[in-house]
Amino acid sequence: MSHLLINDITKKFGNFFALKNVNFELEDGEFLCLLGPSGCGKTTLLRIIAGLEEPDSGKIFLNGKDITSVHPSKRKFGIVFQSYALFPNMTAYENITFGLKNKKSSKNEMQRKINELFSIVNLDHVKFRYPSQLSGGEQQRVALARALALDPDFLLLDEPLSALDAKVRNKLRKEIRETQEKLKITTIMVTHDQEEALTMADRIVVMDKGKIMQIDIPQRIYELPANPFVADFIGDINFIKDNSAITAIRPENICIDEKRGIEAKVYHREFRGAFYRLTLCLVDKNQMIKVDIPSNKKIGFLENNERVFIELPADKLITFKDNEYYHDHNYGNNNFDEFKTKVLSS
Ligand SMILES: Nc1ncnc2c1ncn2[C@@H]1O[C@H](COP(=O)(O)OP(=O)(O)OP(=O)(O)O)[C@@H](O)[C@H]1O
Ligand SMILES: [Mg+2]
Repeated sequence: MSHLLINDITKKFGNFFALKNVNFELEDGEFLCLLGPSGCGKTTLLRIIAGLEEPDSGKIFLNGKDITSVHPSKRKFGIVFQSYALFPNMTAYENITFGLKNKKSSKNEMQRKINELFSIVNLDHVKFRYPSQLSGGEQQRVALARALALDPDFLLLDEPLSALDAKVRNKLRKEIRETQEKLKITTIMVTHDQEEALTMADRIVVMDKGKIMQIDIPQRIYELPANPFVADFIGDINFIKDNSAITAIRPENICIDEKRGIEAKVYHREFRGAFYRLTLCLVDKNQMIKVDIPSNKKIGFLENNERVFIELPADKLITFKDNEYYHDHNYGNNNFDEFKTKVLSS
C-alpha cells in the first residue's frame, strides 16, 4: 500500500513563487503525470516529494505519516532525474547494481532480481557496455532500471524521455508503462509533452506558474478543460469571443458545408497526414479559425480564398466561467490583421 498526499505545498525562491498551494493525492499503483510549460514548477515539486528540497509551507504525507522532513534516503523513492546522469566509468550492469551493494540481500536473491530487471527493461544485450556505447534510449532504460533496482515504494521520473527522438520515445512510453504495471509501482512522471501525458497517465495534473490548473483523467482534460489555459496547452483549440463570454471548440469538431452555416474564406490549407488543417477567416466575426478534416474526405472544393460555410455543433462547444486565464495569456488571433488584408480584400 502506498498513498501519497501533497498538502498545500508552497515554495518560494526569493520573492518568486515556484509553487503556490499545491494539493493532490496519489492512489496505490497509480501513474500520474505532472504536465505544464517550462518553468511552471514541475521539477521543484518532484524534488520536494523526493525530499531533496524543503517546502516553505505545506506537508507531504505517506500512508498517513508526515514525511515532510524525512531524509531522502529514508523515503524509498526511486528517482530518474531530468538529466539521467549514469556513471560513465561503469557498465550498464554496474550502474544498475551500484545501489544494491549496500543492501543486505543474499547473493542469489540479488542475482535473480537483477536478471529479472534486465529482461523487464530489455537490456540483456548491453549489460557490459559503458554509457558511451549505449544509445540514448538504452541509457534511459539503464537509468530506469537503476531506480527500480532499489525496490522503491514510489517511482519519480523527471522528463525521462525528453532527450530522445519521436520513434524511440513512443516505444519507451509503452515500455515504461508496461514495466510500471507489471511491478504495480505508484509513479509520478514529469513532462511538458502533452501527448506523452495523454497516452501514459491514469490522471494528469496540469500546472501553470506554480499552480495546479486541473487534475483529471486524460479524456476529461481534453474534452472538458477547466479554463482557457488548459484548453490551449493540451491539443489545439479555437477561442470564440462573444461579448464577455468565452467559448471554445476543437478544430476536429467543426463541420464544413458548401452552402449553409457561418460564412468563411479559406486562408490556408495544410496536409498533415491523417487530416487537413484548414485556416479560415470568419467574414462577419473578424476572427480566424482552425478546422481539421480527415484527409480521406474529399475536399476538392476547398482552395485558397474560396468561400465555405462552417457549423459549430452546440454539444461540442466549451464555455468557460473562469476567464482570468484568457486575459492573462495571449491566445490566437494576433495575426488577424494580416489575414484580413490578405484574404478579405482579395
Ligand atoms: N534553486 C533555485 N533558485 C532559484 N530559482 C529556482 C531554483 N530552482 C528553480 N527555480 C525557478 O523556479 C521555477 C520552476 O522551476 P522548475 O525547475 O521546477 O521548472 P520546470 O517546470 O521543471 O521546468 P522545465 O520544464 O524547464 O524543466 C523556474 O522559474 C526556475 O527558474
Ligand atoms: Mg524540470
